[in-house]
Amino acid sequence: MAKQRAQWSGHLGFILAAAGSAIGLGNLWKFPYITFENNGGAFVLVYLAAITVVGVPIMVAEVLLGRKSQRNAVGAFRVLAQGKPGGRAWLGVGFLGVMTGFIILSYYCVIAGWTLRYILMAVSGELGDLAYHPEALESFFGGFLGNPLEQILYHCVFMGATVGVVFFGVGKGIERAAKILMPVLFAILVVLVVYSISTPGFRQAMAFLFRPNFHELTTGSVLEALGHSFFTLSLGMGAMLTYGSYMRKRDSIPRAAVTICALDTLIAIMACVIMFSIIFSFDFEVTKSSSILFTTLPVVFFKLPGGHVISALFYLLVSFAALSSTISLLEVVSSYAIDEFGWARRRATLTMGAAILAFGVLSAISLGGHAALSNINLIGRPSTAGVFGTLDYLASNWFLPVGGLLIALFTGWILTRDECRQELEEGHGPMGWAYPAWRFLIKFAAPAAVGAIIVSVILGAEYQ
Ligand code: PHE
Repeated sequence: MAKQRAQWSGHLGFILAAAGSAIGLGNLWKFPYITFENNGGAFVLVYLAAITVVGVPIMVAEVLLGRKSQRNAVGAFRVLAQGKPGGRAWLGVGFLGVMTGFIILSYYCVIAGWTLRYILMAVSGELGDLAYHPEALESFFGGFLGNPLEQILYHCVFMGATVGVVFFGVGKGIERAAKILMPVLFAILVVLVVYSISTPGFRQAMAFLFRPNFHELTTGSVLEALGHSFFTLSLGMGAMLTYGSYMRKRDSIPRAAVTICALDTLIAIMACVIMFSIIFSFDFEVTKSSSILFTTLPVVFFKLPGGHVISALFYLLVSFAALSSTISLLEVVSSYAIDEFGWARRRATLTMGAAILAFGVLSAISLGGHAALSNINLIGRPSTAGVFGTLDYLASNWFLPVGGLLIALFTGWILTRDECRQELEEGHGPMGWAYPAWRFLIKFAAPAAVGAIIVSVILGAEYQ
């Protein structure tokens, strides 16, 4: 155990890795479609408010817990809760986090796998052929989801890539991958944004996104914005805590947290600008918003000049974003096994990777390939049907908000003012007014907002 804990090589290494975790399918797939369903404008504003009031303070808290304890999600609570009210019961928050990481990774990898299939199709020209007939693409997509062998194949490839990175550790694996993936991702996004400015739908897209119409705002959309801020920032399950545990003491936590939240938000908005500009360029009816990325976009891509290149670049972008997120999910589970069971990193990543892969097969074949698994519906709503739907519902609507609430309460009420202040000012210098402001948000505002989500889920005022 005396082995020195691995560290990021510097401030940039941490920021890129953590931004890589945050930026993923949540930004490129989920945010655009929920923005679409909630009619843009006002929803985007509420989302920005949620990121500021709940996202940033909890991001600071998670990184703080990790760096202060120098441990994984479970170990952090063992060290920090010692001799405090609640004591070892707090370890439950860490266990919940590790379990949530395991679950999210199992189904996230399945969707991430689809992007690989789309890259291949974009390059081979198959996507272009299908895209000229929207019904053909729709039925291809349905058939693809219902084909268990293909679903398992792409799931395995994506999981293999994830294990392949985490296997090499913090510096040589995760940080190195982030330093390649993130700049490429950003460059592709910029190219696509510039391209979207030239499309006829650009102005309408900007108006849709930035002209708020508060009449359209419902309580459900406020809750959805809040709930999504956890998923998109990778909060509530120890990913930022684990990454924070590799952060150097001389780097600033508040500065890093604000930068990561800003980057994540910027990329979500850029994704919306690109997708809505293209969609609004045509009089195209979006029938099923949750599959915009896989059935609507290809059709419009190929109506525009350069559709081949644009679509190939786009799916490459999505797969890169997803990979930098799956890496962080696996790291939460692996670092737990490394610290707590004393396993070597290789053993931890291979064993945990194999277990998650096997569990993920259930999700992979529940999309139509296997009748019984597709029909399971423990929650009882159309959107929660199947193993896949059930797990996503439980993780995004329950485990992350509950985990986030407990992290906020622990940091705000169990750790003392001085303990937090000392860790936050280390590497940052005196925080001035920002410290009491953060302390207020983490003690009162964030728990109240997250409590509201949880109560509303209990009462069935659904936001999914
Ligand atoms: N933040 C990632 C996304 O937006 C998903 C994620 C959630 C990653 C939780 C790690 C932990 O896609």
